[in-house]
Amino acid sequence: MEKYKDKNVDIEERIDDLLARMTVEEKVGQMLQVSYNVLSKEDYEKYKKLGIGSFLHVLGDEADDIRKKASETRLGIPPLFGIDAIHGHCLLNGATVFPSQLAMSCSFNRGLIKEMGRATAKEVCADGLDWTFSPVLCIARDLRWGRVDETFGEDSYVIGELGQAIIDGYECDNLIIACAKHYIAYGEATGGRDAYDSPITERKIREVFLPPFKKAADIGCGSMMTAYGSIDALPLTANRRILREILKDEIGFKGFVVTDWENVRSLVTKQHAAKDLAEASLKAVEAGNDMSMNTHEFYECMLSLVRDKKIYMSLIDNAVRRILRAKFRLGLFDNKERPNRSVIGCEGHKNINHELAQESLVLLKNENVLPLGGDTKTIAVIGPNADDIRAQYGDWTFFSHPEPKKDVEPLGDYYTVLGGMREVFGEKHILYEKGCDIYGEENNIDKAVKTAKKADAVVCVIGDCLAQNGEYRDRANLDLSGNQMELIKRLVGTQKKVIAVLVNCKPLCISYLKENCDAVIEMFNGGDFGGLAVAELIAGKFNPSGKLSISFPQYGAQTPCYYNQYDGWHGGQYVDLQKGNVYDFGDGLSYSEFVYSNLKLSKKTASKDDIIEISVDVTNRGSMDGKETVMLFVNDVVSTILTPTMELKGFEKVFIKSGDTKTVTLKLDIKDLAIVTPDLKYVVESGEFEIMVGRNTKEYLKEILTVK
Ligand code: BGC
Repeated sequence: MEKYKDKNVDIEERIDDLLARMTVEEKVGQMLQVSYNVLSKEDYEKYKKLGIGSFLHVLGDEADDIRKKASETRLGIPPLFGIDAIHGHCLLNGATVFPSQLAMSCSFNRGLIKEMGRATAKEVCADGLDWTFSPVLCIARDLRWGRVDETFGEDSYVIGELGQAIIDGYECDNLIIACAKHYIAYGEATGGRDAYDSPITERKIREVFLPPFKKAADIGCGSMMTAYGSIDALPLTANRRILREILKDEIGFKGFVVTDWENVRSLVTKQHAAKDLAEASLKAVEAGNDMSMNTHEFYECMLSLVRDKKIYMSLIDNAVRRILRAKFRLGLFDNKERPNRSVIGCEGHKNINHELAQESLVLLKNENVLPLGGDTKTIAVIGPNADDIRAQYGDWTFFSHPEPKKDVEPLGDYYTVLGGMREVFGEKHILYEKGCDIYGEENNIDKAVKTAKKADAVVCVIGDCLAQNGEYRDRANLDLSGNQMELIKRLVGTQKKVIAVLVNCKPLCISYLKENCDAVIEMFNGGDFGGLAVAELIAGKFNPSGKLSISFPQYGAQTPCYYNQYDGWHGGQYVDLQKGNVYDFGDGLSYSEFVYSNLKLSKKTASKDDIIEISVDVTNRGSMDGKETVMLFVNDVVSTILTPTMELKGFEKVFIKSGDTKTVTLKLDIKDLAIVTPDLKYVVESGEFEIMVGRNTKEYLKEILTVK
């Protein structure tokens, strides 16, 4: 048996052996990824036979066919199949559709998110695929951006922690590899414009945007994807400093870097930073990209660069080494055994999904109305998103990708809010009327009001829809669109108890709901079980525990409104707005009251290489058992550069029985208090730090820590 096929030999040795046997054509082939839907049939067949490195968006049988053709090539190097399984393997109808990343981040539950990742890995692998383009580690600070739903919210620390959890889930069984994306600062583009320029400095990148990617690299993430845009006008695709020097050389990332969709071509056609595709290919590889997603001409261009001696073979070898490392690691050379297809959408995964959907919900307001009491006999379920599974699923499912498919029916079990309410309260207790749509084309509000008047309580489900969610879908106006405001105002006017439920992809302007509804529940895109979880929350079948991972502005023009901003704004507010947000990062109610006491630091004076312990007692004063996320914020009191007035440095979600008190201990590594100086050094400055531990950004206990 050839050496590279021998499992007992160390992976790096097997790679050395294989690389030594490969021709330039075979090496460059490994660096190409193609998708069937941008190629002619002939070209697609050609690449299948050529044995190229990777294919994307291929499902099931097609993958088997490609794998077979690859096995018939000279060296039989197996392809790597990539797919956007970003909240479950949802491009496949029938697979488990989990809550979106934004929704699940509100659970603050690392363990559950790891389980979600693990379940997704099983489904992807069972379908014959190897690689998910997830997680998104972008930071959602500009709410106009269309891809806020794909993020873990606005906080770099939360994103890093949940990113590690999901990557661990994806990769722990070596079934698939993850892909942390989009490297880097993609969400920070001017004006929230997708794939545009992010006018930020390397200092800012190191302070805010790099830490989640560093955590991904630290946990061994198999791959990373470069962003579409540019940093201070230098395209990411050609950004050697960011890709090669920082990510690979400094951080020591061992996986491979794939471009985003046609990034190499965009260097020529959109960014005008290369005169032709050969120059673009050269720039991309020199900068540190190892695989080109699409831009199939990359293959010929690379061969011509080699022929013309314009590119170092060592760059190609290094890229191929990284790609082969993933293939060996996944056992693709070793007759990999895949889980049985019966895991796709299986009961076990449904249970994880159901629990995650429950923990992802955020109860934002509850004016003594929830849980609904036994005297509520009839409930009117109203609103455009009450029974729209496409809006509830959000982006990146078979409805939208790889091509839009509007009218298919999901094959797996799912519950819209209407479905969930019927299931939990019994069909005969539920009335339904849509009322209006999201676009402003339908108006049956009179009918909806009539229905509401027949009921004891109204559940009004509003939000946004697929056309307002995702790439190419940046929004300037974050108000509830169409006739939704009229609908909610008329329902409030009925004097019935009104519970507003939001099914949406990002924070919208909801001051009116906060002021006028009796309760407000935020679902975001809740997946298969979002609607059931809402009904169960309303019925008091579980104790809500979600908290916002992202802040809600009063008006769109108030964005960015993230919590960890600087002091120093003259006046501290817009003259035409009240101060503050409608809801802040960390907000979220429970049916229990959690009381914090006894904040203690293991040391009140620490040295710069200490790790201190911070403990607090949390008492569940409610009558229901419940979960509480304890948050640790820090304020660097005096620092050379501006630092945020408060910044999250730790969180822990704990279960506390009714009446019980738990001591929660969080670790703080003093190194994590470092600032990034203007000359790009990481420095912990001596002085005082406020340590704040509590429920959210407003309710906390405080102690002073001195660092010497
Ligand atoms: C997106 C990526 C995605 C890729 C492949 C791009 O348009 O930006 O997030 O993974 O397509 O579908």
